[in-house]
Amino acid sequence: MRVLLFTGKGGVGKTTAAAATAVLAARRGLKTLVLSTDAAHSLGDTLAFEAGPEPTECVAGLFVQQVDAESRLTQSWGQIQGYLLSALEATGLDRLRAEELTVLPGAEEVLALLEVRDQVRSGRWDLVVVDCAPTAETLRLLALPEALDWYLSKLYPIERRVVRALRPLLGEAVGIPLPRQPVLDAAERLHESLLDVQEVLQAPTTSVRLVLTPESVVVAEARRMLTSLALYGYRVDAVIANRVFPDGSDPWLAGWVAAQREQLAEVNDSFAPLPVHRGLYRAAEPVGPSSLVGFAEAIYADTDPFAVPASQDLLEVERTPGGFQMSVALPLAQRQDVDLARVGDDLVLSVGGRRRVMALPSALRRCSVAGAKLEGGRLRIAFVPDRAQWPHGQGAHP
Ligand SMILES: Nc1ncnc2c1ncn2[C@@H]1O[C@H](COP(=O)(O)OP(=O)(O)OP(=O)(O)O)[C@@H](O)[C@H]1O
Ligand SMILES: [Mg+2]
Repeated sequence: MRVLLFTGKGGVGKTTAAAATAVLAARRGLKTLVLSTDAAHSLGDTLAFEAGPEPTECVAGLFVQQVDAESRLTQSWGQIQGYLLSALEATGLDRLRAEELTVLPGAEEVLALLEVRDQVRSGRWDLVVVDCAPTAETLRLLALPEALDWYLSKLYPIERRVVRALRPLLGEAVGIPLPRQPVLDAAERLHESLLDVQEVLQAPTTSVRLVLTPESVVVAEARRMLTSLALYGYRVDAVIANRVFPDGSDPWLAGWVAAQREQLAEVNDSFAPLPVHRGLYRAAEPVGPSSLVGFAEAIYADTDPFAVPASQDLLEVERTPGGFQMSVALPLAQRQDVDLARVGDDLVLSVGGRRRVMALPSALRRCSVAGAKLEGGRLRIAFVPDRAQWPHGQGAHP
């Protein structure tokens, strides 16, 4: 069972690469599902096939699905939203404002990932290929399960206890309806599902393929994305440089070829040791299964696009003579962009404005951060046991 997610800046060829990879997989005998979490229906257009909300066979062994994010949203969030609405309205807020407040940012895409999870867990497929929405959306959505988890795990138990204790009192006194058990259950189910989504996306058999075109602006964004993906615990296993111009004698084309050559060299250096596959700029749009399979064969050449990559540890904790070292993979991160804070039992790591809250393993909770350095594409954080702050074994009571 393998999961491949295709992401990158808008318009670089994510949908084309995802569809092409899926067609190739089916040709090679893998039972494949390709689905899109993007509300735009371009996956169907690319495959020249009318995709519906349920997996439908497009060519032998290849099923296509256009996730109906809206109905998933109603399914998972509707009940909770309904409660929030009534609670907010009871406080005197008008309906429109209340509705605004209960809309989860990026929720549709996140909930589309629930469908990905269901399909992966169904055991029906050898390969699930996901055509993601453009960069910014995807990143936000990849971060959301963890952010939600953090908020819910901190707030939820407290709220639940308060609600139970106060239900008989509060309900009457303030006139604010309290959430009933089904609402609480729905919130808990959503929470658990999102954690499961995260588990699926971070599994060693799940890889992200970064699609880019060899242009400076696109490459710069892809570099930042590589860092952010590692920050969130997602493994990138290859880069696809698409729309590479073939050599030619036309002076306009020669200019582009030279500029792209420079960018491709930079891509090779930046993303090493990841393989960089190249897709030529074709004379026509690669649309339809037979055109796509040719595109995929050219991209992957003689490599195996479905092999599970050698595992890389994104997060490691090891003992050192002075305590522990925790290291987090952060390829291409710049020192000035990295920020680290300890908040209770959590470590908050920010890189270029993106944040990840990591629960510290129990051994590290009784330690302090003694320093951190970026080295070999990893952030290495030194932890020392709290006692070490007071020399001569005096402990916390000198
Ligand atoms: N190598 C190529 N040669 C020629 N045309 C290409 C190539 N790759 C993609 N295209 C065409 O470029 C357009 C954009 O590609 P595609 O839809 O795959 O990009 P995308 O990254 O999914 O875009 P979006 O961000 O809007 O989802 C399509 O019309 C596609 O057929
Ligand atoms: Mg697309």
